[in-house]
Parts: sequence; structure tokens; C-alpha cells
Amino acid sequence: MGDASSASLPRHVAIVMDGNGRWARLRRRPRFAGHRAGVDAVKGVVRACAEKGIEVLTLFAFSSENWRRPKEEVSLLMDLFATALDRQARKLHQNNIRLTIIGEREAFGSALCERIASAESLTRNNSGLHLVIAANYGGRRDLVQACKAVAIEVRNGKMDPQSITPEVLEAGMSLEGLPSPDLFIRTGGEMRISNFLIWHLAYTELYFTEILWPDFDESAFEAALGSYAGRLRRFGRTTEQVLAAQKG
Ligand code: IPE
Ligand code: IPE
Ligand code: MG
Repeated sequence: MGDASSASLPRHVAIVMDGNGRWARLRRRPRFAGHRAGVDAVKGVVRACAEKGIEVLTLFAFSSENWRRPKEEVSLLMDLFATALDRQARKLHQNNIRLTIIGEREAFGSALCERIASAESLTRNNSGLHLVIAANYGGRRDLVQACKAVAIEVRNGKMDPQSITPEVLEAGMSLEGLPSPDLFIRTGGEMRISNFLIWHLAYTELYFTEILWPDFDESAFEAALGSYAGRLRRFGRTTEQVLAAQKG
């Protein structure tokens, strides 16, 4: 740790995997074919992160707004999620990868919830890459949940409103205990956050690419990491201050 290469490697990468539908349309195939191809792209990026020693990879798989899609697409996405979970849990475990799902999982029904819980408990003690899948996740809702938890503490006289800090709120949110994303990637050309980790992205380096998610391969990921490595993260300070701190 501490050498130039590890310093320029993000600890936490968060990705909005967008463009599956357009990828399929370009091939005159149903949208679902794009989602299926997207799962292969996930495997590639997970492997790359594990090999490079990236600590956390958070993938946006299904947003709290994606329920608005046609019923058939939603149900195909759920099936794909369940199948991928069944097929990949053991492989992730063999590769020392820890899997966590964030988002409101109750909406998925009890069978899928059980599969999620068993994959999480199987991989709980793994010390390699921490893979976080955001499924039925919404950043605003995440923040609201944290506010509710704090409000209850205050109402019960266990907390003084004056002692509410960003750290206190963050402790009530998903990703609790993990470093905030250093690098955000969105494929598919749209330049928006789409209610992903709105709180946690406050100081994240943003990277957008036109590449559609199923085409996002290792070289595309390298390009994103290269862009990140070239950035100077100032966190409000001046360039001179940051460079002086790096030397010292
Ligand atoms: C991202 O691809 C996958 C999910 C949102 C589940 P899209 O399905 O949004 O693909 P486009 O944006 O229609 O191309
Ligand atoms: C964001 O993609 C959500 C996921 C990738 C899971 P969308 O395709 O749903 O985003 P919008 O609707 O274009 O903002
Ligand atoms: Mg999309």
C-alpha cells in the first residue's frame, strides 16, 4: 500500500450498468437478450476487480423506479437475478468474494429473499472483493430510511438532534461501514445518476462512457481506471496543498 499504483487505484467502484436494451435493439433482438448479455459483462468486471485488489464493487442492477417498466421485462429481470444468484453464489465464494445485496428486497418475494440471504451468509466471511448488488435500490429512499431511524432515536430520547452529524446519518444507510465510492462509472451514454447512491457520490469521481453495458469489457474498464488515475482529488483544497501532502 501507499505506492503510486495502489494510490491511483480506487478502493470502491460503483457502476450504473446501462444500455442493455439498446444493445439488443441494435441486434434486432428482444431487450431481454441485452439483459442476459449484461450478466456476462458483470462477470468480467467482477473478475477484473478481484484480480486488481479493488475492495468494493457496487453494481446498480435494478432501481426503485424500474418497476415502471413493462411487467414482462420486470419479471424476466427477476428471473435473471434469481438464476444468476443460484449459479454464481458458489463461484463467488470459491473466489473469496463477499456478496451483499442492498435495496428493498422484501418486494422480491420470499423465495428470492431466501436465496439472497443464503448467498450473503455463504460469503459473509470472505476477505476478497466485496461485491454489492443494488436491487430495488433508490438513493432517496435510502436517505429517508436513515432519517426515520434517527427520528425514532430522537423521539425515544436516545439522541439529541444537535448530535446528528453526516456520520450518524450515514450509519443508518446502505453501504454502512464501507468507504464511499471513489469512482462512479455509467455506461450507455446517459449523464445522470438516476437515483443511485446520491448521498455517497458527494465526492466521487464521475466517468461516463457511450459503451453499452454488454460491451463493457476489461479494456473499457481499464480506460475508466486510467481516467481515474489521472484525476487530482482536491476535496476542497488547492492543487498546491494536495501535491505538497502527496510528497510529504
Ligand atoms: C440497464 O439497461 C439495465 C436495467 C436498468 C435493468 P437498460 O435496460 O436500461 O437499457 P437501455 O437504457 O434501455 O438501453
Ligand atoms: C438506471 O438505469 C438503473 C439501472 C442501471 C439499474 P435506467 O435505464 O433505469 O435509468 P434512466 O431511467 O434512463 O434514468
Ligand atoms: Mg437504461
